[in-house]
Amino acid sequence: MHFASKSYFSPLITLGQVHGLRPQAGYWTQIQRRNSHFLSLSPIKTKNAVKTTRMTEDLRHIPVLRTQALGVLNVHSGGLYLDATFGAGGYSREILNTEGARVIGIDRDPNAIRDGQVMVQEFAPRMTLLHSPFSAFEALIAEKLDGIVMDIGVSSMQIDESERGFSFRFDGPLDMRMSQTGPTAADIVNFADEERLANILFYYGDERASRRIAKAIVMDRAKVPFTSTLQLASLLGRLLPSKPTEINPATRTFQALRIAVNDELGELLRALEAAERALKLGGVLSVVTFHSLEDRIVKQFFASRTGKGQAISRYLPGEIVPPAATFKFEAKQPITPQEAETAVNPRARSAKLRFATRLEAPARPADQNLAKLASLPEPARRR
Ligand SMILES: C[S@@+](CC[C@H](N)C(=O)[O-])C[C@H]1O[C@@H](n2cnc3c(N)ncnc32)[C@H](O)[C@@H]1O
Repeated sequence: MHFASKSYFSPLITLGQVHGLRPQAGYWTQIQRRNSHFLSLSPIKTKNAVKTTRMTEDLRHIPVLRTQALGVLNVHSGGLYLDATFGAGGYSREILNTEGARVIGIDRDPNAIRDGQVMVQEFAPRMTLLHSPFSAFEALIAEKLDGIVMDIGVSSMQIDESERGFSFRFDGPLDMRMSQTGPTAADIVNFADEERLANILFYYGDERASRRIAKAIVMDRAKVPFTSTLQLASLLGRLLPSKPTEINPATRTFQALRIAVNDELGELLRALEAAERALKLGGVLSVVTFHSLEDRIVKQFFASRTGKGQAISRYLPGEIVPPAATFKFEAKQPITPQEAETAVNPRARSAKLRFATRLEAPARPADQNLAKLASLPEPARRR
């Protein structure tokens, strides 16, 4: 897809200029205080604000850290922004509320694309919606971008629809595929060998009982294959008894399987690298994550790209030249939700926002150290 530069977009000033924002100490506080129009659409505000939101917004998913994640983009008229995780469109809508701003939304879930058509119509011609994994966005967008926002993970719709198989609270097929194509969680549980299963649970779920669970799964599946969420949840309940106050013993295993089914960490890393290539000079990459494995990748990526990491290249024998930074930080990070947000949306509790601004240096090739963070260890490695 190619977006010709649109002459009808008048060269208006940026939100940052409107608000007199400068990237300096206190930058974030200024954004919070002054971008109050973002806050006014939040479903957690006053009775009237809730009413306004309901008229215009899909409340099946409450966007997390939206004010903060979009505030740092400095959305402006004529700017082109990628919402790499469209979901229910909460982030896209907020960007489009800036007159003249254009959004390309991406989601790998066909349901999100189907339901998002209403917004495409509502904001035509400024909104485009594409069905794709976000790691492949470069193949679909020819124009350089002013900002990219990623709100990683699953949407409330995906979790709440039992037939998607993401939740151990409802019975449904053991599926967990965001894209609704390819191998399911049941395929992994029924066919992966015991060591791979244990590795998935240990590395993607931080499950200390990974070997015990993998062994029990392999024994059980020899009698009856796993087909449903509750079938697996009940095995986990038997193996790992817990008190009602503790987290459900299925939590870590379900998280691990979901990450494996959707290659969530590999997708994230490839998308960060693509973002480095696709952003304009001064463009901002803003990423919200929900668990430590994702956050570690974003943190290390930005550390290496801002020159804070250890990454260095050897250009000449004996001479070590650190590669030029491709991003710079504008504020202290990570940014986490305020109490008011977590009070109404407990899902926000573990959210972290990291963001950085693109500099001039050319994008770097894929980084092997980062790739290790996004993949399982080789089978031979002991833990
Ligand atoms: C947390 S939700 C985003 C919610 C959105 N910000 C909103 O306000 O409604 C994450 C969405 O990203 C999508 N997603 C996750 N990983 C993806 C990937 N690798 N490629 C494309 N879409 C992805 C999911 O299908 C889901 O719809």
